[in-house]
Amino acid sequence: MPGMMTAEEQEKYRQAGSFGAAADAYERGRPSYPPEAVAWLVSEDARTVVDLGAGTGKLARALRVPGREVVAVEPSVGMREQFSQVLPDVRVLEGTGESIPLPDSSVDTLVCAQAWHWVDPERAVPEAARVLRSGGRLGLVWNCRDVSVPWVAELDRILRDCAAAPTEDRQVERVGVPFGPVERQDFRWSHSMTAGEVMDMVASRSYVITLEPATREELLGRVRALLDAKRPMEMPYVTECYRAELGLL
Ligand SMILES: C[S@@+](CC[C@H](N)C(=O)[O-])C[C@H]1O[C@@H](n2cnc3c(N)ncnc32)[C@H](O)[C@@H]1O
Repeated sequence: MPGMMTAEEQEKYRQAGSFGAAADAYERGRPSYPPEAVAWLVSEDARTVVDLGAGTGKLARALRVPGREVVAVEPSVGMREQFSQVLPDVRVLEGTGESIPLPDSSVDTLVCAQAWHWVDPERAVPEAARVLRSGGRLGLVWNCRDVSVPWVAELDRILRDCAAAPTEDRQVERVGVPFGPVERQDFRWSHSMTAGEVMDMVASRSYVITLEPATREELLGRVRALLDAKRPMEMPYVTECYRAELGLL
């Protein structure tokens, strides 16, 4: 762990590195991204697209179109292994938002799904600008459970009670020069899930992976009881999307 970190930074660093331990639950429990959101984030003519913090490839699957090269960048070895099992023909590189192992001006669009809150924007913004071509695009996206639906609000209450789920600082406002203004668009949709998949979605959250075993079991027990009582079939989501273009040089 890098030195000179505050306790809060150390906890963020520990959680950011936790995903590999639950990569299979992540793959089973996390949703993909709706096609309208992907189309808003990545223009049809983008030929080289990077999926930053690609995880198990949930977004990468939706990025692939004929004539386009998708390259994944992911720090966790467990996630990269799972990625390669699911998408054996997509290049996946070890790297982070702060250090992307690609040449200058080589990428049309760089998309970061559910991961920009883990990066240090002071280093990740110039790094994204370095690999993007002039006029290239940075896209950021998060799938958020729709807590306006009562059973989802109850699920979130359980997560907050047991796990002190952190309020995510998306750090979108820290994307500045040399990028132009950040645009935002939300997409509402729902994803059909079995109770087992909801359990995997919960178990693959960084702040649940890193809990003490007894607290983790208590949390999972409460979620199981909620699912037994409500028997939901659909998880409602709001997909929050942001995009900004690199200033033409
Ligand atoms: C919630 S997962 C999202 C995975 C995938 N993009 C998706 O949409 O399912 C967050 C991912 O960010 C990765 N990550 C953590 N710190 C990172 C960093 N500094 N730069 C890039 N990725 C990072 C984690 O290893 C993990 O795979």
